Amino acid sequence: VCDSGDFATIDKYKPQDATTNPSLILAASKKAEYHKLIDDAVAYGKQHGKNIDEQVDATLDNLLVQFGKEILKIIPGKVSTEVDARFSFDTDASVNKALHIIDLYKEQGIDKSRVLIKIASTWEGIKAAHILQSKHGINCNLTLLFSLPQAIAAAEAGAFLISPFVGRILDWYKAQNKKEYAKEEDPGVKSVQSIYNYYKKYNYKTIVMGASFRNVGEITELAGCDYLTIAPTLLEELYNSKDDVPKKLDASSASSLDIEKKNYLN
Ligand code: E4P
Repeated sequence: VCDSGDFATIDKYKPQDATTNPSLILAASKKAEYHKLIDDAVAYGKQHGKNIDEQVDATLDNLLVQFGKEILKIIPGKVSTEVDARFSFDTDASVNKALHIIDLYKEQGIDKSRVLIKIASTWEGIKAAHILQSKHGINCNLTLLFSLPQAIAAAEAGAFLISPFVGRILDWYKAQNKKEYAKEEDPGVKSVQSIYNYYKKYNYKTIVMGASFRNVGEITELAGCDYLTIAPTLLEELYNSKDDVPKKLDASSASSLDIEKKNYLN
């Protein structure tokens, strides 16, 4: 999976799926060749908002969907489109925004099966993902996930996919402890390993997609995970290294691990 909002880059690596977030789209939209999409989104915002706040909201939603639509012309799979962070602690607002984004995709002739609504893994976000999946058949990507309790709650809520972060956990540990970590000791890697093993041991169907990588070592340590979403610079490094990457995570060996079952949803 390619973690980028830039069509040319996505086209270069030909991933199955792509993940975006508002900052990746903002970064991509600065390219001159994408300025028309911004102009169109601003025009859309002006037509669809009574005041400036509504216009900004409508512009952003339109831009996210226009980028998603272009990306879907390149990839065969699904694109993740993020509900922005203002809604992270409000279940109803997250659900409404997600339904709106799916409607905008529908207006563009794109079926909801090709879109993952990306929502923060707060308690409110996990509940929103549950409602979207169970009542509306909308698949979510629960992002900003930093711990096993969040992952267990997401799986119990029936989330389609989670994005446990690696690099941001490492950043935090490095800042706290003022030291470097070898890839085998990387606390972000360990977090994803424990989530993956727990899911496979207890047969959860929620897809585990490691995200937020800082180096190729973190990626190779997690080879075998269901999915990994990787930024273009690291994809390039992986591509250039041409080394075989042995599988380190394996569902069949996870099932024999001694891991206690927990419940964090109720
Ligand atoms: C993917 O879903 C995330 O948007 C991304 O991997 C976050 O990475 P970062 O920690 O480098 O911002």
